[in-house]
Amino acid sequence: MEASPALSRIGLAGLAVMGQNLALNIAEKGFPISVYNRTTSKVDETVDRAHNEGNLPLFGQYNPRDFVLSIERPRSVIILVKAGAPVDQTIAALSANGRGLLYLGMGVSGGEEGARHGPSLMPGGSHQAYTNVQDILRKVAAQVEDGPCVTYIGEGGSGNFVKMVHNGIEYGDMQLISEAYDVLKNVGGLTNEELGDIFSEWNRGELESFLIEITADIFRVKDDLADGFLVDKLLDKTGMKGTGKWTVQQAAELSVAAPTIAASLDCRYLSGLKEEREKAEEALKLAGFKEEIGSVTSGIDKKRLIDDVRQALYASKICSYAQGMNLLRAKSVEKGWNLNLGELARIWKGGCIIRAVFLDRIKNAYQRNQSLPNLIVDPDFAKEMVQRQAAWRRVVGLAVAAGISTPGMCASLSYFDTYRRGRLPANLVQAQRDLFGAHTYERVDRPGAFHTEWTKLAQKSGSGVGALN
Ligand SMILES: *[C@@H]1O[C@H](CO)[C@@H](O)[C@H](O)[C@H]1NC(C)=O
Ligand SMILES: *[C@@H]1O[C@H](CO)[C@@H](O)[C@H](O)[C@H]1NC(C)=O
Repeated sequence: MEASPALSRIGLAGLAVMGQNLALNIAEKGFPISVYNRTTSKVDETVDRAHNEGNLPLFGQYNPRDFVLSIERPRSVIILVKAGAPVDQTIAALSANGRGLLYLGMGVSGGEEGARHGPSLMPGGSHQAYTNVQDILRKVAAQVEDGPCVTYIGEGGSGNFVKMVHNGIEYGDMQLISEAYDVLKNVGGLTNEELGDIFSEWNRGELESFLIEITADIFRVKDDLADGFLVDKLLDKTGMKGTGKWTVQQAAELSVAAPTIAASLDCRYLSGLKEEREKAEEALKLAGFKEEIGSVTSGIDKKRLIDDVRQALYASKICSYAQGMNLLRAKSVEKGWNLNLGELARIWKGGCIIRAVFLDRIKNAYQRNQSLPNLIVDPDFAKEMVQRQAAWRRVVGLAVAAGISTPGMCASLSYFDTYRRGRLPANLVQAQRDLFGAHTYERVDRPGAFHTEWTKLAQKSGSGVGALN
């Protein structure tokens, strides 16, 4: 008789791509793991991989009962199935009843590669449950110089919320990079080879990040079905799974301005209208629209443009992260999560899609001042914004003149210019609201709520609408 194997330290149910890779990662770090999937071929596949990738301590189970019994107490199970009903079904299949269950909702970022070799993990929910698996998570997560990319996020759904905002920030980053590409290509006339070199160069400086690095690689790939570069053959329609939309919905719910993230979402919607856009291009040509790019690009200083775009991208990114961080803080206040923004920036430094060197600076900014109202006013970032604003304005100005849309960069610049101005034209909006709706207004020079009979007074003063006739 075979000796029954020792109990596994943890279990994982749901062996799609992410599940398999995370299970292999856990096993590789030395934690015996049981895996289960209703579809038995998935279990076999994972067991085979564990064998081939170094005889990892991973044990396939073929029914829920055996699976649960193969795990040591307190039994911890990672469920990696589609959100919604499948989660409930899996929990029901694994537990006779819901009593005594502790829940940890964990955001996992890094894609397949990250899951296998070190993701950024965002666990929230039961602190006891976190304590039960903390040693595993710390080993499995991506490692950066100041520790593993995991921390206990907070109560309730905070882990998933933080992952959602991470994705919203990711939308913004990708949009801003695509705008930099658009300007460099269509205003600067850069070739794919040049773009590849520029992005590689940027990846050695303040912009160093996963997304900049992969972008450099993309420009180097030749089309294997026809002549030229593959990037030029891709249909310009962006897909999405919903996390960007939820981020913008949450920002609206919480009255937090997130214009860069919203602009990137809107751009995905507009990109989806491919046929409509092609027709619009024709319709406006027929109506006499002339491309202005030629007059803008003639005599352009390419080197200067490249340097300006780099600065514009960096400054735009800071504004986008400021929006994401403020959304996190607002939700944290509403829910009492007590989120540590510096720690969140830290666990995003490795493993995840938005990993970037400058997250270390964001971490430092929040560590210096927990109650920093906005990244832009951190003394270091403030200095950087001031240094880059002239280049930023030149890039946006050129793009506007050339008719190249840069909604993300424009949104970031407008956010900056709106936030930094002590006085906005909101006084006029208040006057209008008071005139037509008697909503009252406050004054800059004395306390209290005021209402004015604007129309009557205007007519009396002789400069009302009628007086001009
Ligand atoms: C098992 O695999 C199938 C197909 O890959 C998937 O739809 C299902 O949710 C998985 N999870 C469990 C727990 O059975
Ligand atoms: C944190 O930032 C706010 C706003 O800029 C400022 O009023 C406050 O003094 C800062 N606190 C510290 C400890 O620097």
